Amino acid sequence: MGSLLEKFAGKIDLIYIDPPFATGADFSFETEIGEREIELTKEQSIIEEKAYRDTWGRGAESFLAMMAPRVRLIHDLLSPLGSLYLHCEWHMSSHLRLFLDEVFGADQFRAEIIWKRTSAHSDSSTFGQVHDTLLYYTKTNAFVWNNPKTDYEEWYVERYYRYQDKDGRRFMSDNLSAKGLSGGGYAYTWKGAKGVWRCPESTMARLDKEGRIYYTENGIPRYKRYLDEMEGRPVQSLWDDIQGVVSWSDEQTGYATQKAEGLVERVISASSSAGSLVADLFCGSGTALAVAEKLGRRWVGCDLSRWAVHVARKRLLGIDGCKPLEVLNLGKYERQYWQGVTFGKDGKTVTERALYEYLAFILKLYGAQPVPGLTHLHGKVGRAMVHIGAVDAPVTIDEINAAIAECVQLKQTELHVLGWEWEMGLYDLMVAEAKKQGVKLVLRQIPREVMEQQAVDKGDIEFFELAHLQVEIQKPKKLALAVALKNFVIQNTELIPEEVRTKIKKWSDYIDYWAVDWSFQNDTFMQGWVTYRTRKDRTLAVTSDPHTYEKPGKYRILVKVVDVFGNDTTQGYDVEVK
Ligand SMILES: C[S@@+](CC[C@H](N)C(=O)[O-])C[C@H]1O[C@@H](n2cnc3c(N)ncnc32)[C@H](O)[C@@H]1O
Repeated sequence: MGSLLEKFAGKIDLIYIDPPFATGADFSFETEIGEREIELTKEQSIIEEKAYRDTWGRGAESFLAMMAPRVRLIHDLLSPLGSLYLHCEWHMSSHLRLFLDEVFGADQFRAEIIWKRTSAHSDSSTFGQVHDTLLYYTKTNAFVWNNPKTDYEEWYVERYYRYQDKDGRRFMSDNLSAKGLSGGGYAYTWKGAKGVWRCPESTMARLDKEGRIYYTENGIPRYKRYLDEMEGRPVQSLWDDIQGVVSWSDEQTGYATQKAEGLVERVISASSSAGSLVADLFCGSGTALAVAEKLGRRWVGCDLSRWAVHVARKRLLGIDGCKPLEVLNLGKYERQYWQGVTFGKDGKTVTERALYEYLAFILKLYGAQPVPGLTHLHGKVGRAMVHIGAVDAPVTIDEINAAIAECVQLKQTELHVLGWEWEMGLYDLMVAEAKKQGVKLVLRQIPREVMEQQAVDKGDIEFFELAHLQVEIQKPKKLALAVALKNFVIQNTELIPEEVRTKIKKWSDYIDYWAVDWSFQNDTFMQGWVTYRTRKDRTLAVTSDPHTYEKPGKYRILVKVVDVFGNDTTQGYDVEVK
């Protein structure tokens, strides 16, 4: 989140956040595998993945310690017109409120909104907890406020709009008499009714002609105030007219704790304008981003769960006319920070001792023993030597070559390389090269969960083997290329329940999303062509549409595949277009 400051300090007009509530729970995400034609029942084809952990489940204190710097950061990110809506629940709302008062100023506290998120349920020992709280603060007194309206309540309509025209149009009868008004009125007799009226006789005549006068039993004229001409009721602080997401909702993504679009729509409509910049810094399935996109706002979102990013990306791409979006990975900075605070830093650099402790920590999680005194090999597990990549740089081909050479020198025949990120395209090259030298090479991903104490304590750490992607670049016509996926092998299929695994017939069933950047510029992946499975449409093309280049030349194509575990596999291909 801190990385947003550089670009966005003082520029965000509205921030909605819905952080984990310190309940100590893990939240799972249900995903389906493959197409329906593989004849799995829905339940069988679903695997459950941990989407994120409520890492601050160690109590209010740890939750607030996490929130404190983030609230300050939010204050810095907001523009002078900006607003914050902090979505929380009853355990934490009072603590957060005090803290927000301190950072924003108590006079900037605009409302405590109670959202009734579910219908009655019975909590055996207390009142049913059916609401969440949204704490609404503004940065200054010059905030955006669009005075949102909603429908009048039924009882109100029944009581006050109790008259109807012949065509069923409902109206309230309003006083036309000026009796008692300080400004006086117009004295005349209208259709036998003598009085002092609020409008001159000519206006009364016009209104009558327009059918806007209602006559009481005594012949007294009254003004017809039509319900359908009213702006609606100003939205109050109790929101009981927006349903939470239920399993059959169209907007359901399968992401636990997903909030209703209607709720966020009310927030965004109330406190931002077309083109405003809206942010959700705990965006989960991307509800706020999707609503912002649909309402014509610009947006930025963050989340640390790979599932969240994956689900949000698919959700946004599914919006008709969604503007181009970028997915940035800030993992390196988070890892550097984690390494510094966990193992120690000397000024800006990590100390030698800290580096040793980092390696020992990863080795332990991998079930390996440290092997001191070697240059490129850090440990051993069973018969395999282990090399561990740095937190802030991709594992390179040269690095693996050096580790293989050391294995050969020591007559070791198996090498496991654990890395956070990888130099592009090394998989095929390295595995074949190592084999030639008599070394079996296994490449495994270090998961970001190793930075979460709770995940470590619960033993939730999986070192996935890198997936293997085989691609064919096709040249359908002059200046055009297409990408065809030929094979995709994920190694850790044992993590899929057996009854599901045995029914998966095609390698493509393991793919949930894939996309092509036709001209990668060595920075951000720019999605040029994309396809993905949705909850409604489970099919997936394995050949892209052709892409026509404007001019011949050398290009680098990047293919990104996201598998059913939410893991990314990205491979680059240098091509010449003629
Ligand atoms: C309650 S969920 C948000 C759900 C979201 N409002 C929606 O509608 O889908 C909280 C999210 O915060 C994310 N999260 C937790 N700690 C975070 C952190 N330090 N930085 C960014 N995201 C975080 C979790 O991964 C999770 O997706």
